[in-house]
Amino acid sequence: MYSYLYSFIQKLILKKSLNSDAASLLKLLKVKNVIDIGCGDSDVLNYYKFEKNQKYFGYEAEGYFINKLKKKFKEKNILFFKSNINDIDFNKFNPKNSLILMIGVLHHLDDLSIKKFLSKTKEFKILSIDAVILPNQNLVTKILYYLDRGNYIRYLNDYKKLLVNFKYKLIHNRYLRLPYDHVMFFKNIKKTDINNLIDSNK
Ligand SMILES: C[S@@+](CC[C@H](N)C(=O)[O-])C[C@H]1O[C@@H](n2cnc3c(N)ncnc32)[C@H](O)[C@@H]1O
Repeated sequence: MYSYLYSFIQKLILKKSLNSDAASLLKLLKVKNVIDIGCGDSDVLNYYKFEKNQKYFGYEAEGYFINKLKKKFKEKNILFFKSNINDIDFNKFNPKNSLILMIGVLHHLDDLSIKKFLSKTKEFKILSIDAVILPNQNLVTKILYYLDRGNYIRYLNDYKKLLVNFKYKLIHNRYLRLPYDHVMFFKNIKKTDINNLIDSNK
């Protein structure tokens, strides 16, 4: 269960929301369905207003978030489900028209769960943003990784081995007030779109 203290500390050190970048991608792609896995507080909804012909599906393993979100958002096209990633039925979506967001989620998942997820979502557009271990990393970054509750912050090469057919972009010191390295992995999305959203959204 996410503690209030943990969320509070996270908010204190956050300089820019990861979900604000995800929202910029939504503005660009205008997909019909957005599938936000491990949605937490569904922060992306603070940065992107869904049109009536679009749908948002937030999936989250912790019921605490889902109960809170269901009270806050009453729109018919904004839906929440208490669900583990392994139990999501991706067959109900048209992959060509659907974007999967995994913001800060991969480092909570073991390799097997990621492989199973990937086998079900080959044709989907996918954006992931997560922490990455790099050579000669700042000591502060290492301490933050140590304190993180996800057990699977990976080396870049280990992400690359898992996320076959994905492109990636390393991002340094963009989101936190402290030194930190993120990596964006994306699939069925143009690299120029990712570059543009990073450059235009500083
Ligand atoms: C670091 S938080 C990120 C939350 C949100 N995506 C954001 O950007 O604010 C990771 C979230 O993934 C959820 N999570 C972890 N493992 C999961 C799983 N196997 N299935 C679904 N959600 C999971 C956690 O409960 C947590 O809310």
